[in-house]
Amino acid sequence: MNKKVISALVMGASLVTAANCMAYESGDMVLRVGLANVNPNTSNDTVVPGLDVEDNTQIGIAGTYMLTNNIGLELLAATPFKHDITLNGAKVGETKHLPPTLSLQYYPMESGSAFQPYIGVGINYTAFFSESTTGALAGTELKLEDSWGLSAQLGVDYSINDQWLVNAAVWRMDIDTNVEVNGADLGGLEIDPTVFMVGMGYKF
Ligand code: NI
Repeated sequence: MNKKVISALVMGASLVTAANCMAYESGDMVLRVGLANVNPNTSNDTVVPGLDVEDNTQIGIAGTYMLTNNIGLELLAATPFKHDITLNGAKVGETKHLPPTLSLQYYPMESGSAFQPYIGVGINYTAFFSESTTGALAGTELKLEDSWGLSAQLGVDYSINDQWLVNAAVWRMDIDTNVEVNGADLGGLEIDPTVFMVGMGYKF
C-alpha cells in the first residue's frame, strides 16, 4: 500500500471514531443559524380580492434542546421579516412581523448517526408591526392583527464533526390575521406561509 492509501484508511477510521462523538443525546443543545425565507400562500375570501403578501428572507436562528435522545424542543427566532403587500400586483403597503415558533421534534435515527432527519409540530405566534401604506391605499392606516396558529416542520442535520453540522428545514405555519383599514375591519387574511431555512449548526 502506498502512503496515500494508508492515510485515507487512517482518515476513514478516525471519521468512524468521530461519528461516535456526533451523538444527539439528552441534554444536548443544537443551535442552527441560516437564511430563512417566508413565502406566504395568501388566500383571502373575505378581504379585498387581489390582496397579496410577498415573500421575504431574513436570518433565522433555531435552538433545540434535546429532552431525550430522540425528542427535542425547538424555538425558532429571526430578524424581523418585512413583506410588501400588493393589490392586483401593485404595491399598496408593507408590514414587518416576527413569527417565533416553538416545536416539539422527533429524531428517529439512533443518536450516533451523522444524518439526523426530524419532524416537528408546534405553535406559532406572529406579531405584525410597522404597517405602512402607499399607492392605492396611501394615506390610510393599515393594521394587521397578531396571530396564533399551529405549525408543522421537516428538517435534516448532517454532522460534519462532533460540533458542526449543516441544516435544512421547512415549516408550514398557520398564520391568519385580520385586516383593518382606518379602524374598519375588512375581514380575515390567511397568510399560511411556507418557511425554508438553510444554514449551519453547532452542537454542544
Ligand atoms: Ni390559515
